[in-house]
Amino acid sequence: MLSIAGVLCALGLSYASVGQARITDVVLFGDSYTDQSRQHSIANGTYPGKDYQEVFPPNDTAADGGVQWPWYLGLYGNYTVWNYAVGGAVCSNDWTPLYGEPDVSSGQQAWFIQDHIVTSNNTSHQMLTLEPSSFVVVQFIGTNDVGIGSFLTADEAANVSLPNVVDCQMNSFRTMHVLGARNFILNSLIPLQLTSLYSNSSAPTIYYPEVHDGNAWNKGIYNLVHSLNRMLEDGINALNAEWAGDGRVEWFNTYNLFETMYNNPAQYFNGSIPANVTGHCHQCPDPDDYTQCGIGDCTLAERDSYMWWDELHPSEQTGRNLAAEIFKKIEGNSQY
Ligand SMILES: *[C@@H]1O[C@H](CO)[C@@H](O)[C@H](O)[C@H]1NC(C)=O
Ligand SMILES: *[C@@H]1O[C@H](CO)[C@@H](O)[C@H](O)[C@H]1NC(C)=O
Ligand SMILES: *[C@@H]1O[C@H](CO)[C@@H](O)[C@H](O)[C@H]1NC(C)=O
Ligand SMILES: *[C@@H]1O[C@H](CO)[C@@H](O)[C@H](O)[C@H]1NC(C)=O
Ligand SMILES: *[C@@H]1O[C@H](CO)[C@@H](O)[C@H](O)[C@H]1NC(C)=O
Ligand SMILES: *[C@@H]1O[C@H](CO)[C@@H](O)[C@H](O)[C@H]1NC(C)=O
Ligand SMILES: *[C@@H]1O[C@H](CO)[C@@H](O)[C@H](O)[C@H]1NC(C)=O
Ligand SMILES: *[C@@H]1O[C@H](CO)[C@@H](O)[C@H](O)[C@H]1NC(C)=O
Ligand SMILES: *[C@@H]1O[C@H](CO)[C@@H](O)[C@H](O)[C@H]1NC(C)=O
Repeated sequence: MLSIAGVLCALGLSYASVGQARITDVVLFGDSYTDQSRQHSIANGTYPGKDYQEVFPPNDTAADGGVQWPWYLGLYGNYTVWNYAVGGAVCSNDWTPLYGEPDVSSGQQAWFIQDHIVTSNNTSHQMLTLEPSSFVVVQFIGTNDVGIGSFLTADEAANVSLPNVVDCQMNSFRTMHVLGARNFILNSLIPLQLTSLYSNSSAPTIYYPEVHDGNAWNKGIYNLVHSLNRMLEDGINALNAEWAGDGRVEWFNTYNLFETMYNNPAQYFNGSIPANVTGHCHQCPDPDDYTQCGIGDCTLAERDSYMWWDELHPSEQTGRNLAAEIFKKIEGNSQY
C-alpha cells in the first residue's frame, strides 16, 4: 500500500484555486454513523481495498438498520459518493484506539489514495484523479473517541486529552489538503446525551450490558460533546485562516440539526405511528445476548417514525434528513 508520507512528498502543490465549479463527487470519512458496509466487510475477512463496492440491503444493512445517509446524499445531489467510513472507527488509533478499525487519519485516507492517486512511475508522476474544485470531503468522527471505552469511562490512555483528538481532525484536513482537496465539511458531534446509551438511565444496554451511573454518563457525555464541538469549531477557524482562501472547511452543525429534529418530531418523522424521538425501533430484549436482537423490533411501516434505530445509532429517516441538509450545505444554503 502506498504510504501517505510518500505521496505527500511526491505531489506538487500547483492546483488551481477552487472556483464555482459544480460539485460532482463527495468523499466521506467517519464511523458507523456514516459507514455502509466496510466494517462488516472487514469482519467478513474481505479487506475493502481499491474500488470497493459497498453492500446495500437486502445483502447487508448499515448501523441505521438500512441504507446509510451518504447514499441518499448521492441521490439528492446527483453526486458520486466515495464512502470510506468504518463502523467503530476513531480519528486516530494512536490516540484513542478503541477497536483498532481503520481510522480517519490514516487507514481511511489510505483507501482514498488507492482510489484517487495515480502513480504512473515511481514518484515522478503521481496525481490526483479528481479535479479539486469538483469534490467535497465530509469528515464526521468523534463519537467513539469520546464515549464508552474512552474518555467517558476514563478508559483513554493516561497521556491523551481532547485537544489531541481535535489536532487529529485538523491534521486529517491538512493531509487531504496536501493531497489536493480544497472543499471540506466538518460535521459536529450529535447530542449524544439524547441516545439511550448515554441517557440518564443506569440500566444495561446491548452496547454496555452492565448497570452503570446513568446520571454521571448523561452529564459526562454532554460535557464531552460540547467541549469537543467548541474546540473543533475553533480549530477550523484557525485552519481557514492558515489556508488564507486556498481551501476551506465549512462547519456543519449536526448537533443543532439533531436537536431540531428532537424538538420538532412531526416535521421529520413520517412512519405509520406518531413520531418517536426517545425510543428506538431495534430491540435487544436481553442485553447480555445479542442473538436475541431483533425480537420486538418495530415494523417496517413504523420505522420512519423513529429518530433512533437502536441505543446509539440514528435511524434511516434521520439519515435522510441529514442527507437533505448536507445537500443544502454543499449548495450553500443550509442554516446549519
Ligand atoms: C459478508 O460475506 C457474505 C458471504 O460471503 C456476503 O454475502 C456479504 O455480502 C458480505 N458482507 C459484506 C459487507 O461484505
Ligand atoms: C444482493 O446480492 C445478490 C447476489 O450477489 C445480487 O444479485 C444483488 O444485486 C444484490 N442486491 C443488492 C441490492 O446489492
Ligand atoms: C448527474 O451526474 C452525471 C455525472 O456527473 C451527469 O452526467 C448527469 O447529467 C447528471 N444528471 C443530472 C440530472 O443532473
Ligand atoms: C514517468 O512517466 C511519464 C509519462 O507517463 C514520463 O513522461 C516520464 O518520463 C516518466 N518518468 C520516468 C522517471 O520514467
Ligand atoms: C522505481 O523505478 C526503479 C527504476 O525504474 C525501479 O527499479 C524500482 O523498482 C521502482 N520502484 C517502485 C516502488 O516502483
Ligand atoms: C502514550 O503513552 C504510551 C504508553 O506509555 C506510549 O506508548 C505512547 O507513545 C504515548 N503516546 C504519545 C503520543 O506520547
Ligand atoms: C432523567 O431525565 C428525565 C428527563 O429527561 C427526568 O424526568 C428524570 O427524572 C431523570 N432521572 C434521573 C434519575 O435523573
Ligand atoms: C419518509 O420521508 C422520506 C423522505 O424524507 C421518504 O423517502 C420515505 O419514503 C418516507 N417514509 C414513509 C414511510 O413514507
Ligand atoms: C417510543 O418508543 C419506545 C420503544 O422504543 C416505546 O417504549 C415508547 O413508549 C415510545 N414513546 C412514545 C411517546 O410513543
